[in-house]
Amino acid sequence: MKIDLSFSKPSKTACDLAIFLVGEDGVYPAHAEFIGDEDLIEKAAELAGFDAKDGGSFSFVAPKSAPFGKVIVVGAGSAGDNAENTWLNLGGKTLSKVGSSEKVHIFSDAGKEGQDPELLSEFALGMTLRAYDFDEYKTVTKKKGAEKTHKIKMMASNYLAIKKAFNSRQAIADGVVLARRLVNEPANTLGPVEFAAEAKALEELGIKTEILTEKQMTKLGMHALLGVALGSERPPRLAIMTWNGGKKSEDPIAFVGKGVVFDTGGISLKPGGGMEDMKGDMGGAAAVIGLMKALAGRKAKANVVGILGLVENMPDGKAQRPGDIVTSMSGQTIEIINTDAEGRLVLCDALYYCNERFKPKFMINLATLTGAVLVALGQEHAGLFSNDDELSEQITEAGLKTRERVWRLPIDKAYDKMIDSRFADMKNTGGRFAGSITAAQFLHRFVGETPWAHLDVAGTAMNSPKTDISATWASGFGVRLLNELVAKNYES
Ligand code: BES
Ligand code: MN
Ligand code: ZN
Repeated sequence: MKIDLSFSKPSKTACDLAIFLVGEDGVYPAHAEFIGDEDLIEKAAELAGFDAKDGGSFSFVAPKSAPFGKVIVVGAGSAGDNAENTWLNLGGKTLSKVGSSEKVHIFSDAGKEGQDPELLSEFALGMTLRAYDFDEYKTVTKKKGAEKTHKIKMMASNYLAIKKAFNSRQAIADGVVLARRLVNEPANTLGPVEFAAEAKALEELGIKTEILTEKQMTKLGMHALLGVALGSERPPRLAIMTWNGGKKSEDPIAFVGKGVVFDTGGISLKPGGGMEDMKGDMGGAAAVIGLMKALAGRKAKANVVGILGLVENMPDGKAQRPGDIVTSMSGQTIEIINTDAEGRLVLCDALYYCNERFKPKFMINLATLTGAVLVALGQEHAGLFSNDDELSEQITEAGLKTRERVWRLPIDKAYDKMIDSRFADMKNTGGRFAGSITAAQFLHRFVGETPWAHLDVAGTAMNSPKTDISATWASGFGVRLLNELVAKNYES
């Protein structure tokens, strides 16, 4: 649904729906007098058996004395009490109750916490994230242009402080929504070239974007990445985005994303069932571009590089075969065992390039890399692999804070052996066991001594369950997580 969010001081003005947040100090919300009968909410709450602490809600038709059509009372009493029950989630939940009401006023001065601009702007972020929908292609159930915008006004005495605190969160929401839109978008309209254009478009925020073509990548020797693209009519791209919001002298931090716009498996063709999901195989790159948008949008005080490896993995007469040996930009050779293990081939050149050119403080790559990570962790945690304990801890912490959680899995010499090849320096798969780990070992061979972390987001970026703050197939996983990582640890 489309929303137009604004903030103002509380006033008794007409609207279709008034939402009162009630805090732990009982069911007398601020401005209940606007209803015309101050005790009405308390009476109705009693009838409904409502407890402000349990996060529930109830609604009633407003009396004639009120300028509202309808009233919903939302229990905010327990918001913030535990990790699931956040103000962010409460915002999402509350938005889901708006229904068809067009003009909505939210009275939020709920208890002590209801006065906290940080918490209330989290609530507003939750609403914004929940509102995102992917319905551009629905022409029958949704007449083009007919969709109305819900005007949502948060009314609070400290509305100016809330508005100010919401500024940076609007940028975060924009980043998450961009990531979601790209993951939801089908591959016929989003190829490597179109994806690169999305990165270029971020220049309006002050990001610098370079796009490398096939020719330039050939010159650089990126034959691991280029090999994946051989089977596609659509040429690959490497997008390099830089945001310089930090001190000039400071080395950047870097994020690298797998952007396989569609993964058929190539000659090692995937089975047909569920293959349509592979339009989301650019979820890592989507998170990186979304993160860059968020950071630039809120003018983060950090130097940040974002690199997207953009290719399509198709079977074709020109496609690469199992048994082929390619030379990566690093000079290391790779025996292709399975053309469906393509993500690591894209990333190894992108990571190596990133490290050589930018000498970053750290590199974090995101990729929908293995089905095996779904077997291990399901859709609750992304797999985290790293050569650096401190970086791992920072990412884990950010995950707990944002509820975009990660779980660390091991990398180790013993696993590394599993990708030694008979004919080349390494092979691109490690056999049946520990599939997510051997994929990580592969990437590890291209990062040198630089602190590095790999997030396998195959279970978290796409095909996502609905949550309070996410209503579509794509979650936008990684944007809030890494924004938090940067904000907490890497801004001057
Ligand atoms: N894109 C897939 C991984 C994937 C699976 C992402 C399910 C999202 C949901 C990746 O390129 C792939 O095909 N990996 C193979 C690796 C195997 C051939 C070693 C896999 O996981 O089966
Ligand atoms: Mn694949
Ligand atoms: Zn893939």
